[in-house]
Amino acid sequence: MNDLDQLVSTATAEFDAAPTPAELENAKARFLGKGGRVTDLLKSLAALPPDEKKRRGAEINQVKARIEAALQARRDHLADAELQAQLHAESLDVTLPGRRRGTGGLHPVSRTLERIEAIFGSMGFDVADGPEIETDWMNFTALNSPKNHPARSMQDTFYVDLKDAEGAWLNLRTHTSPMQVRYAMAHASQHRGADPMPEIRVIAPGRTYRVDSDATHSPMFHQCEGLWIGENVSFKDLKVVFADFVRQFFETADFDMRFRPSFFPFTEPSAEIDISFHSGPLAGRWLEVAGSGQVHPTVVRNFGLDPERYIGFAFGMGPDRLTMLRYGIDDVRLLFEGDLRFLSQFR
Ligand code: PHE
Repeated sequence: MNDLDQLVSTATAEFDAAPTPAELENAKARFLGKGGRVTDLLKSLAALPPDEKKRRGAEINQVKARIEAALQARRDHLADAELQAQLHAESLDVTLPGRRRGTGGLHPVSRTLERIEAIFGSMGFDVADGPEIETDWMNFTALNSPKNHPARSMQDTFYVDLKDAEGAWLNLRTHTSPMQVRYAMAHASQHRGADPMPEIRVIAPGRTYRVDSDATHSPMFHQCEGLWIGENVSFKDLKVVFADFVRQFFETADFDMRFRPSFFPFTEPSAEIDISFHSGPLAGRWLEVAGSGQVHPTVVRNFGLDPERYIGFAFGMGPDRLTMLRYGIDDVRLLFEGDLRFLSQFR
């Protein structure tokens, strides 16, 4: 190997030993730079006679070209290695299962409320909404439960540390029945002078509160009030409307319904509505689904209407209970714990 071949292999070896582009550029300078070895060789040509200069010059140019080729090869190699490293670091396994975005869904009680609203809506009932913090008068007095009346103890409630205009503590409503009063009063004043007044037909679903907590009672629960007042509305209408509701809600006609005498201060007579399915998992048991009755004359008077002329019925049912019956849920607390393992079953 002559000195020029030797130079090419030394340069190639040093280039190949350079681990980074920066070190490769340093190695390049040692051979091809201003004071580099190839440059030195070219300078040394000056001292040679013309013939010799030509031959040696051509040889050195070839050497220079070979060293430049070796440099380029190493540059390409390092750039390729860097690209590979980068691709590896940013690698994406497209065969991995995708991460799903969580899908929300309606709470089972919301589904029930929507069903109730759709069914009663189709029967011509308006849907009303009202405050959960209620005055003593709306929640009790107007509904024929005067102060200190023993019937008030049927519904133990939570009080709010604020008094209403009459100096009575505000409460968390114990039932949706105050919505009978709010809606009927507004309706009566809106139609004052109309003869006859257009019928009142409304449901009022919403949250209610009582001091009660076990597998079948939650301190916060839902109710849906129903009210139908006109000149000629009777228990017969209640029976037809309610049976129709049950049929549509449970999607079966295969049940019996009974009115069991009961007491509420705001209805007279009063009845619990029970149903009993003939088949399916609930077959053979009487299930209480609502309280009901003919609206008490005192309450009709509190609506601002003449009880000698306007009459009708009211009912209050428990959407939580209906949800439990429909889906086979045995503990009401499951509805309000917010456990996704439970809730996601209803998505
Ligand atoms: N408000 C009663 C309750 O909560 C239910 C009811 C409503 C009864 C309307 C009769 C008429 O128990």
